[in-house]
Amino acid sequence: MKPAERFRNFQKYSPIEPFEVLSKRLGRKIEDIVKLDANENPYGPAQAVKQSLANLNNINIYPDPESRALRAKLSEFTGVDQNLLLAGAGADELIDLILRVMLEPGDVVINCPPTFGMYPFDTRLNNGVVFEVTRNNDFSINTKKIREAITENSAKILFLTSPNNPDGSLILDEDLRQILELPVLVVLDEAYIEFTADTLTDWRKKSHIQWVSSFENLVVLRTFSKWAGLAGLRVGYGAFPSWLLPSMWAAKQPYNVNVAANQAAIESLKSLDFLTNNVRKIRQDQRKLFRMLSTIPFIEPVPSEANFILCRVNNFSASYLKNFLLEKGIMVRYYETPLLENYIRISVGKPDDHMRLMKALEELQ
Ligand SMILES: Cc1ncc(COP(=O)(O)O)c(C=O)c1O
Repeated sequence: MKPAERFRNFQKYSPIEPFEVLSKRLGRKIEDIVKLDANENPYGPAQAVKQSLANLNNINIYPDPESRALRAKLSEFTGVDQNLLLAGAGADELIDLILRVMLEPGDVVINCPPTFGMYPFDTRLNNGVVFEVTRNNDFSINTKKIREAITENSAKILFLTSPNNPDGSLILDEDLRQILELPVLVVLDEAYIEFTADTLTDWRKKSHIQWVSSFENLVVLRTFSKWAGLAGLRVGYGAFPSWLLPSMWAAKQPYNVNVAANQAAIESLKSLDFLTNNVRKIRQDQRKLFRMLSTIPFIEPVPSEANFILCRVNNFSASYLKNFLLEKGIMVRYYETPLLENYIRISVGKPDDHMRLMKALEELQ
């Protein structure tokens, strides 16, 4: 017996290193590590979430396979009919599930790098073929090339991300509208959309999740990992066209969203004042960090709408800079891909984290 041949050289996704591992490796206490590498929320969940997790008394019972209570709250939050919503163990699970349901072996999926690494990973995992349409120099999508690629490859799925990870750029409504005219399922990943506005009302205006009821070929994914500070619990959701939902329900693992994740997500939706306030702080600190980074001669920060800033590194190699910062206990995201060879991405942390980062960068001047 041996695993399928295609896994012999399978390109893995490179996830982050956990605190504990890094703490041992660097010989530093966990509290002494500044973690700016995974776009996590430095303020964590709301107090009510922690309280309700401490009081959970049904963890011996499997969770609701349909996450009904959560979907009802999500419907109020997003304005989307709950019958079009499905929750998952993070947006990550839903990306995989869409591909499992949609792809026949050899089907083409369009990816627009540089972008989130799970789209090509899950495509390959599900026997699909990735066709790359590289972004323009300013990280905007190349709509003309996307259109050609879809037609020439009879592509099944196109992944778009707004704001895009790693640069934080938004997709223009006009571009999205044009793309939606094409015969392809568009999966729009809005993992960071809450960082594009200050208030609940504006979050609704900025998100395209309500477009799902008007466009038959649109899926919109969102998550609690970023704005709600629940990355460790793995809970996300998506809005799907009605023709796709029966297959998604059929293929999904029955208990994909665990009891704690369901509960924490519901409590988060009841703690919106606290969470929107944190988002506002993160947005303000993002702007301040951008201004501070701009004063460093070898750093060129890229304007971003999200809780991270991609930085072009001049004079040094990006890997040297990443390792230099790591030695000082500061973790940033570094990429081993040709498109991002000279870049690092810095997540927005707390003001003290930024001070430590700036002090370290100033030492290199
Ligand atoms: C663009 C994008 N989509 C999805 C995810 C994953 O979301 P989740 O934690 O809900 O799986 C991330 C996480 O970094 C991301 O950057």
